[in-house]
Amino acid sequence: MSSLVTLNNGLKMPLVGLGCWKIDKKVCANQIYEAIKLGYRLFDGACDYGNEKEVGEGIRKAISEGLVTRKDIFVVSKLWNNFHHPDHVELALKKTLNDMGLDYLDLYYIHFPIAFKYVPFEEKYPPGFYTGADDEKKGHITEAHVPIIDTYRALEKCVDEGLIKSIGVSNFQGSLIQDLLRGCRIKPVALQIEHHPYLTQEHLVEFCKLHDIQVVAYSSFGPQSFIEMDLQLARTTPTLFENDVIKKVSQNHPGSTTSQVLLRWATQRGIAVIPKSSKKERLLGNLEIEKKFTLTEQELKDISALNANIRFNDPWTWLDGKFPTFA
Ligand SMILES: NC(=O)c1ccc[n+]([C@@H]2O[C@H](COP(=O)([O-])OP(=O)(O)OC[C@H]3O[C@@H](n4cnc5c(N)ncnc54)[C@H](OP(=O)(O)O)[C@@H]3O)[C@@H](O)[C@H]2O)c1
Repeated sequence: MSSLVTLNNGLKMPLVGLGCWKIDKKVCANQIYEAIKLGYRLFDGACDYGNEKEVGEGIRKAISEGLVTRKDIFVVSKLWNNFHHPDHVELALKKTLNDMGLDYLDLYYIHFPIAFKYVPFEEKYPPGFYTGADDEKKGHITEAHVPIIDTYRALEKCVDEGLIKSIGVSNFQGSLIQDLLRGCRIKPVALQIEHHPYLTQEHLVEFCKLHDIQVVAYSSFGPQSFIEMDLQLARTTPTLFENDVIKKVSQNHPGSTTSQVLLRWATQRGIAVIPKSSKKERLLGNLEIEKKFTLTEQELKDISALNANIRFNDPWTWLDGKFPTFA
């Protein structure tokens, strides 16, 4: 099992969890159940992943069989862009809880600092980049005029009501977090960002450490996850698994793999990881990193020096090119 980090609200969170993006619905419930048997205790889901019913089913099966209790599991979801208005925050959260068959989440992130026009569940769920049939025909997204602090305050109410234990933010940059910290009543416990040796975001990571906000890395394997999305940038960027520096570090630690080096580089620097895999050996290998080997300070530095500010998940490349989230 993964070691635990203590969040700024006192809650303990596993340092290694399982990412649920792109886990096929048909196999998802069983994969979550099997992952629990392997020792996974954190599941990083989202409304947008379209598999929350199945993630919940896998968790509930493990609970009903007595493998774990609800308290042993750290359940994460994310508020999607169409539900940022305070009238829709709790509605969206309750839909997630209802789909999962759970009473509360341990952590609920704002998925992106981007507000789309509301779409009722009956019209399309999860809505993805849909903001209405007319927009869809034109390849357009209509925004909603909702400042982040309004969304955030609606989430604070959800904490008060016991529906979520903690609030997180995802894909936020430093200045937006600074602004949020000036206006929030309950501090965010975590920031989830794209983080791998091609995109180290060191200032942002340092800022979070200073403010006791846990950084959680997504897409730890860099381009890997985006190749299957057919993203041109991912297809043309050399894989990190074959990178000379990563390979050399892996060779320095017999028995380790390059994928484990990528994860260990993060966790050893206090950054949590949520690698996704559908293969049992990989799931085990990804979870085992902490007890297997320790990288030297020099190795950590050598890997960090690979930074090239290459970002694969950039809203600027979505429809319309009008979301300068990371500009
Ligand atoms: N907040 C956000 O905006 C955001 C964005 C992206 C992701 N996320 C979260 O972060 C999680 C992880 O990120 P991700 O899914 O983008 O990418 P990832 O975990 O970096 O990569 C997943 C890919 O790597 C492969 N893989 C997994 N373990 C491996 C290993 N040991 N060796 C070789 N290949 C391996 C997987 O294939 P197999 O399945 O075939 O093993 C899959 O193709 C997501 O599932 C999601 O929960 C959040």
